Amino acid sequence: MAIERLVEPTAGSNDIEEERMEISLRPTSFSEYIGQEHLKNNLKLAIEAVKKRNDGSTLDHILLYGPPGLGKTTMAGVIAHELGASLRVTSGPAIERAGDLASILTNLKDGDVLFIDEIHRLRRAVEEVLYSAMEDYKLDIVIGKGPAARSVRLDLPRFTVIGATTRTGSLAGPLRDRFGIIHRLEYYKEPEIEQIIKRTAGILKTKIQPEACELLATRSRLTPRIANRLFKRVRDFADVNGDGIIDREIATRSLEMMEIDYLGLDLADRNMLRLMYENYGDRPVGLTTIAALTGDEMTTIEDFYEPYLLQLGLIARTPKGRVVTEKGRKHLQNSKNKV
Ligand code: ADE
Repeated sequence: MAIERLVEPTAGSNDIEEERMEISLRPTSFSEYIGQEHLKNNLKLAIEAVKKRNDGSTLDHILLYGPPGLGKTTMAGVIAHELGASLRVTSGPAIERAGDLASILTNLKDGDVLFIDEIHRLRRAVEEVLYSAMEDYKLDIVIGKGPAARSVRLDLPRFTVIGATTRTGSLAGPLRDRFGIIHRLEYYKEPEIEQIIKRTAGILKTKIQPEACELLATRSRLTPRIANRLFKRVRDFADVNGDGIIDREIATRSLEMMEIDYLGLDLADRNMLRLMYENYGDRPVGLTTIAALTGDEMTTIEDFYEPYLLQLGLIARTPKGRVVTEKGRKHLQNSKNKV
């Protein structure tokens, strides 16, 4: 069974309450959305231009990429809202056959936004149908089998695809080329995470002192989804062990209990760093070896553990593999006695 990590930035799809909370906390407009200023400015301009033209043209297809938990789905919702359009949500793995995609596409209305999460996981056959749909709003389908088979072209409504992926590298070139706007979501700045925590506290009607908010922000891996998750756990701790108000002491004790250290790393992160360092020192180690050492899938390491460790400079990527940096080594020493 997979170990559930508190700092795992994937949506907690096995935790309905968490999913519900995440949805209720989601900003719906640019003015509510904190951070990602560069992306917001670009999108605002593109949306304004479409609205101003008012000639039936639609927003270019948009590809959002970057580590999980940074708000790709949320941003898709905001875009649809700002366009005054409806949002349809699906994901690469959910569209099993070309027929599934055909059914989604033929049910869209003019101007709708179709969000495809994990778009890099679309099957080749499905991807090919998507190309022409995105390119000229036509759907090519084959009816019948064998010599009697014939191909028909259906007109589709004008729609905008928003694709989300953690890895642009694994997206087929032709699919990538269909996106007019391609943007990377960046890790948030600490003050932005603080603002997000304050906003969440307000919505959930919980009092949090500024120092506690600051402390939580430093432990949230610069990722809103993790900030909100930690907030919820700390709020539980405050309700059980105090009067419900989150102060510095409550936040510190709660984080200690969760074994999240001062950089936001949990046991699993430190374990990976330690295994790399104990077995390879400062020599490079390949992804397959790291996966064998920790017992995780390679994609888990690449998508979840690595991006933040790289961002902090605790590990580095070299042509020969990943290495624990001097900073990583020091962190292992320091975090032994300190949470
Ligand atoms: N909740 C989660 N992400 C958010 C963001 N970027 N802005 C405001 N609230 C959020």
